[in-house]
Amino acid sequence: MCGIVGYVGEKNCIPILINGLKRLEYRGYDSAGLGLIANGKSQVIKNKGKVSLLEEKVDKLNITATLGIGHTRWATHGAPNETNAHPHFNTSKNLFVIHNGIIENYQALREGLKKLGYKFITETDTEVLPHLIDSFLVKGHSLFRSVQLALGEVEGTYGIAVVYANEPNKVVAARKGSPLVLGIGENENFVASDVAAILAHTKQIVYIEDGEVIEIYKDHFIAKTILDKQVDKEIHEITMSLDEISKGGFPHFMLKEIMEQPESVCNSMRGRLLLEKGTSKLGGLESVVDQLVDTKRIIISACGTSWHAGLVGEYMFEQFARIPTEVEYASEFRYRNPIVGKDDTIFFISQSGETADTLAAMHEAKIRGALVLGICNVVGSSIARESIAGVYTHAGPEIGVASTKAFTSQLVVLALITLLIARRKDMSLVDGKTIVEELQKIPEKISTILKLNDQIEKIAEEFKDVKNFLYLGRGYNFPVALEGALKLKEISYIHAEGYPAAEMKHGPIALIDDNMPVVFIAPKDSTYEKIVSNIEEIKARNGRIIAIASENDDKIDSLVDYSIKIPDTIRMLMPLLTVIPLQLLAYHIAVKKGLNVDQPRNLAKSVTVE
Ligand code: F6R
Repeated sequence: MCGIVGYVGEKNCIPILINGLKRLEYRGYDSAGLGLIANGKSQVIKNKGKVSLLEEKVDKLNITATLGIGHTRWATHGAPNETNAHPHFNTSKNLFVIHNGIIENYQALREGLKKLGYKFITETDTEVLPHLIDSFLVKGHSLFRSVQLALGEVEGTYGIAVVYANEPNKVVAARKGSPLVLGIGENENFVASDVAAILAHTKQIVYIEDGEVIEIYKDHFIAKTILDKQVDKEIHEITMSLDEISKGGFPHFMLKEIMEQPESVCNSMRGRLLLEKGTSKLGGLESVVDQLVDTKRIIISACGTSWHAGLVGEYMFEQFARIPTEVEYASEFRYRNPIVGKDDTIFFISQSGETADTLAAMHEAKIRGALVLGICNVVGSSIARESIAGVYTHAGPEIGVASTKAFTSQLVVLALITLLIARRKDMSLVDGKTIVEELQKIPEKISTILKLNDQIEKIAEEFKDVKNFLYLGRGYNFPVALEGALKLKEISYIHAEGYPAAEMKHGPIALIDDNMPVVFIAPKDSTYEKIVSNIEEIKARNGRIIAIASENDDKIDSLVDYSIKIPDTIRMLMPLLTVIPLQLLAYHIAVKKGLNVDQPRNLAKSVTVE
């Protein structure tokens, strides 16, 4: 989604802003722009396409500036072209604005501003902002006050940064529903939608909250609400390092993140396993654990890959914690008057912690009195801060748009929560210990599967030109089938569907012919014989089959075209292993098709608009 970076200080900000924008590229965007105060004058440079093009354009101008803002735009209102790229000017071109989010009442504001004589040159919702702010400036208000007053009229979501040539020593930033942080430096301050953009310069972060407006100078900042109340802000030291957000020798972030999983799942369980007691210790849930154990119902709400993790969580919670569990798309949750109240516990799962749909669902659940808990990867993210309690997944920064290591870490955390509740209910010590021991073995087993990379790459070569794919699994591996299909869709643009294997005969089997490859997730568990029957059904119709199978399964080779043999574990943890070959398969198919794996078309890493 859109990205924001801003600088006020003594250095030439152009390389700082360009590098910041490059760090935000992973979020997905289609145009980029810079707004600067150079020689006391406002200057905006922007283009459709990559930040590298913007860099070339700015280099040719041979300018320097000590204050500026930069933006990567992911189009919502208006085509992705140079005119619609941010920053946007007011009519006198002495004020410019960058914006993440959506101004929902922009049509009404636009009409009103037109009547006042303001001329619009873009199709964006954002362009109302510079004119609206201008309409208060002309009445004699300061920039800060004008921003407050303008935002008082705006409905929707925003993270904005505003610069005004007549007050050339400050950037004004504000947030409602779109992430924004302030970075504190030595005689320089920063603003960004994502810590990654400014991490090279500072680790001192102030989280800007909804409804706050911040006036940023090079050596101090002033924080107030839109209603002009003073707010005290705390400075946080973040621990993320630059190494963690670079490719580390891998051709793509996605491959790096797939390969990191032995370590990232280890980090998700580090210090949280109590082998002797056969349970887990989750500091973030300590304050609510009694409530959690007594809860009548659990709801898990999330989007995309995190929703798939939630489905695995449902199986775990119901099987072991014996609590009825439902999984909800966050995007649907608040639009259907859900029956949710104080007896319910709702886990919101989100890698970024900023997904607008998930955040909105969380606000709705809070209003209805439910116990709202977060499972997030990004420390200090909105969902993490706004949930009553929660657990960090500690997978480390995930930059590739297709989520991989965040998923496996979410599964680990869900298993830890299951243990925590189930051991306080009726799970035996022996069973608890078995789960802990199996969890401890997962990193090594993932390492074993990652060694199959070359084999999977060869299989990818064979299937890279197909148009459709089917993924089938049963029980705990049904959500993995969904996840495998999503990975393939989003980075290779091949149509893929995930189904419970037994559902195939109720419809999808009509699709099977020799052009329809089917991936079966078929480890040797209690559903194995049934899945073998499903494989036979596909084979009888000339379908081409790839099976993810147990390493000791010799029988399967005669039934399928390709088998990828992986180690076994207990059923509830199997998705941690079965998903790995599917991530690699999607990755290699996309690479072989020559596609941009880390920034697939139309996608954004963190979906901060509804
Ligand atoms: C898929 C993917 C998305 C996200 C979804 C939720 O690879 O990355 O489907 O899982 O947008 O994002 P988070 O987890 O950040 O809330």
